[in-house]
Amino acid sequence: MKITDALLGEHGVLYAIFDHLDQLATAGEGSEGDQRLRTLMDLLEAVLVSHAKLEDDELFPVLEQHVGPGGPLAVMREEHREIEGVLAELKGVSDAAVIRDRVRYVLGVARDHFRKEEHVLFQLAEQSLGEAALRRLGTRWAAERGVAIAG
Ligand SMILES: [Fe+2]
Ligand SMILES: [Fe+2]
Repeated sequence: MKITDALLGEHGVLYAIFDHLDQLATAGEGSEGDQRLRTLMDLLEAVLVSHAKLEDDELFPVLEQHVGPGGPLAVMREEHREIEGVLAELKGVSDAAVIRDRVRYVLGVARDHFRKEEHVLFQLAEQSLGEAALRRLGTRWAAERGVAIAG
């Protein structure tokens, strides 16, 4: 499996989590909804940070050798830091209305970021790295995630 396909699959699952959180942030007023939102934000941070780390550690360094550190790669790295910064900052916020507002903001940034990867960065990786390199990285992705793949 190519790493780009694996990462696209992760995007699909994350979009479902984004939609769920969006609904909760929009409709979940009241202490019970706010507590659920806070708990689910911890989950989102865990999965989103681990998704970005796989891109940062496995795909981006190899792609950088072909396309250099600037352009879309620099933008994607900067957006990872922005998303992680907002998520970390959220932990120190106690005002429920501010949390709901920041959650909607970070979901917007994350959705835009994913779309850019899908339309620009992953296509750049497909064109620059070729099938064999993408499959080697896919094997590394599977090892990191503990997923069994045939090759
Ligand atoms: Fe990313
Ligand atoms: Fe991604």
